[in-house]
Amino acid sequence: MTRIVVLGSTNMDLVAYVEKAPQRGETVTGREFRTIPGGKGANQAIAAARAGAGVAMIGAVGNDSFGTRLRSTLEDSRVDTGLLRTAEGPSGTAHIVVDDEGGNAIVVVPGANGTVDHLTPADDHLVASADALLLQLEIPLRAVVAGARAARAHRVRTILTPAPVQPLPPDLLAAVDLLVPNEHEAAALTGRTDPREAALALLDQVPEVVVTLGAAGSLYAARGAEPLTVPAPRVSAVDTTGAGDTFVGALAVALGEGRPVREALTWAAAAAALSVQREGASASMPYRSEIEARYTA
Ligand code: RIB
Ligand code: NA
Repeated sequence: MTRIVVLGSTNMDLVAYVEKAPQRGETVTGREFRTIPGGKGANQAIAAARAGAGVAMIGAVGNDSFGTRLRSTLEDSRVDTGLLRTAEGPSGTAHIVVDDEGGNAIVVVPGANGTVDHLTPADDHLVASADALLLQLEIPLRAVVAGARAARAHRVRTILTPAPVQPLPPDLLAAVDLLVPNEHEAAALTGRTDPREAALALLDQVPEVVVTLGAAGSLYAARGAEPLTVPAPRVSAVDTTGAGDTFVGALAVALGEGRPVREALTWAAAAAALSVQREGASASMPYRSEIEARYTA
């Protein structure tokens, strides 16, 4: 079984479903409100666990009822939470508006995630036991850098989702094996709006890049090889929140199992396509059997 460790965030997603998101100064009436466990770290952990990996999560929840639910949601998907800390103060929250086209706008308030600013010896030991370490940018950058370095020292593959996007220090990129931005993040990191050009520019800093393109699938680039575009299944989206996390979680599992890149990307796209057809982030993530049923090589 592929062993994956996720170092990252847990958020309670406070989601309002509306026809159309409000403009500044405007008030609109929503259709429904839901609280759904999310956070890019926890999402990737749950996606990978449901896709068939053995997963452990390093991070923090708050000492509130959201924290209790965030932890139990991870455990329900068999994510090991032994090194998930409970911090004083509130859990991270994400304030999300989802519109009728399934698009979203998100404000994240870090809460407990802000306390995850270093790796303990136990964290380091756990990272060493993994086939891959998944990182995102919803915890302090210092911890992300420490995690990437620990993984590199133990020859563990590091996969970084650069979201929310911010300038990436060279010492972080130097320890990343695979960078997975979406097209907006790729543009923000490189100043190039063409995903292919952006991916090629990023290869100056990391050996492999996957740019996710939403409904258009994904683009893979590696040093010394022609970029590869892999389509996504055509589906109608209800809620795309966490689709990128689903993609990364599933991709890490497929790569960890040694599947060829094109196959792994197709498999990850099948997982993401399933997730956008259901509401919520973690709640919408498919199990391995569902991915296999949807997957066509
Ligand atoms: O990537 C989706 C996630 O981003 C949501 O679950 C929300 O918590 C925000 O962190
Ligand atoms: Na979804």
